[in-house]
Amino acid sequence: MNEMQLNQKEYQLISGLIYNKFGISLNEQKQALITGRLQHVLQQGGFTSFKDYYQYVVEEKSGSALLILIDRVSTNHTFFFREKDHFDFIKETLLPQAAKPFEKNGDKELKVWCAGCSSGEEPYTAAMVILDNLVQGLDFSILATDISISSLDKAIKGTYAKEQLETVPPSYRQKYFISVEDGDWTIHQKLKNKVLFRRLNLIQDSYPFKGKFDVIFCRNVMIYFDSPTRRSLLERFHRYLEPGGYLFIGHTETIDRSLGFFKYIKPAIYQKI
Ligand SMILES: C[S@@+](CC[C@H](N)C(=O)[O-])C[C@H]1O[C@@H](n2cnc3c(N)ncnc32)[C@H](O)[C@@H]1O
Repeated sequence: MNEMQLNQKEYQLISGLIYNKFGISLNEQKQALITGRLQHVLQQGGFTSFKDYYQYVVEEKSGSALLILIDRVSTNHTFFFREKDHFDFIKETLLPQAAKPFEKNGDKELKVWCAGCSSGEEPYTAAMVILDNLVQGLDFSILATDISISSLDKAIKGTYAKEQLETVPPSYRQKYFISVEDGDWTIHQKLKNKVLFRRLNLIQDSYPFKGKFDVIFCRNVMIYFDSPTRRSLLERFHRYLEPGGYLFIGHTETIDRSLGFFKYIKPAIYQKI
């Protein structure tokens, strides 16, 4: 079947909708990419133009059409131990620091949030590193959220192809993965028990959390947002972090220091002021 073309006006409608609902800012250079990513959805739904498809998505009341749209459009690339120095920092600095005040006074649960967790490699990496280096008196839990339902389904299943484990150090592979059929590997239940996956749109004004977090990961997500969206997201991260809590962002991302919310610690590592 021939590829359906997306004209300028239709692209503006669809990219405007994606920006308003999810904060993802798509410039003109992304038009061909978006056209390609949506072809299958249009063919499956029997739409004859992008305009008809757009109309359907805005009028569909349950919101499921919108979720399919964002699922197709978002970039979900991720891998285990991505930006490894963050996990070294957790092991060498954050965990010993976090345990110190609690050594004598009892137990503490370290609360971690992975915002934009994609198919689970990031929160499972954090879980492996923390579990492996837990100090006495400290426990932890990880909330992992994303907007993409198909990514969350993969994350909850926690089964990965052999090649995806190439970046996992052998000692972690042995401890935290179990071989399953077709040469795939699945995450050990003791690690799955530590991570709760939920769907959450980061663009919401507030989040349904009861408490605050000691650590927030939001890596390689803000690159898709424009600067007003990034700024309001950083304000919310500040609000949902404990005093002295850490924020990890992607190495290609920066935080405007004039915002005054966070202290720079190391590349892509910030601490709440
Ligand atoms: C490139 S992946 C990054 C995954 C992981 N954090 C990492 O660094 O490897 C970006 C993720 O952000 C998610 N995302 C994009 N916009 C979002 C939004 N408005 N709310 C929640 N998640 C969003 C995408 O679905 C995607 O899974």
